[in-house]
Amino acid sequence: MSRTVITFGTFDVFHVGHLRMIERAATYGERLVVGVSADELNRRKKDRDPVFSEAERLAIVAALKPVDEVFLEESLELKRDYILKYGADVLVMGDDWAGRFDEFQDVCEVLYLPRTPAISTTALIEKIAQA
Ligand code: CTP
Repeated sequence: MSRTVITFGTFDVFHVGHLRMIERAATYGERLVVGVSADELNRRKKDRDPVFSEAERLAIVAALKPVDEVFLEESLELKRDYILKYGADVLVMGDDWAGRFDEFQDVCEVLYLPRTPAISTTALIEKIAQA
């Protein structure tokens, strides 16, 4: 049986931690769907505008070999709807979210994968600003 994997993120200032997460997520099924968070959602969540627009971030993630489909994540409250809409069998998240999505275990398998150490969009923005 073919399994669909879903994962979510901002994927701003795309870096190797993002790539590794997407590559590993893809190994849990045959089809990988990625929800890329909308600019407006980021403004609310992180209190700053992403460096790259949602259209640019969608284009970058969609171009990756392991990614079959992308969509814009408009609201954190719609996770269950997205899981059902895309027919996801597995939800993969970084372990910075450990335990936070266990409520969806009634509709899909929920996995938390370890983050790549020592890299993040926030750290990169700070490093570049200091350079
Ligand atoms: N991720 C990862 N390893 C990292 C950074 C991110 O595995 N070093 C994963 C996250 O766990 C998530 C996905 O990549 O599943 C998208 O993460 P995102 O929040 O967009 O990136 P961050 O670099 O964590 O961004 P920020 O610093 O703004 O929180």
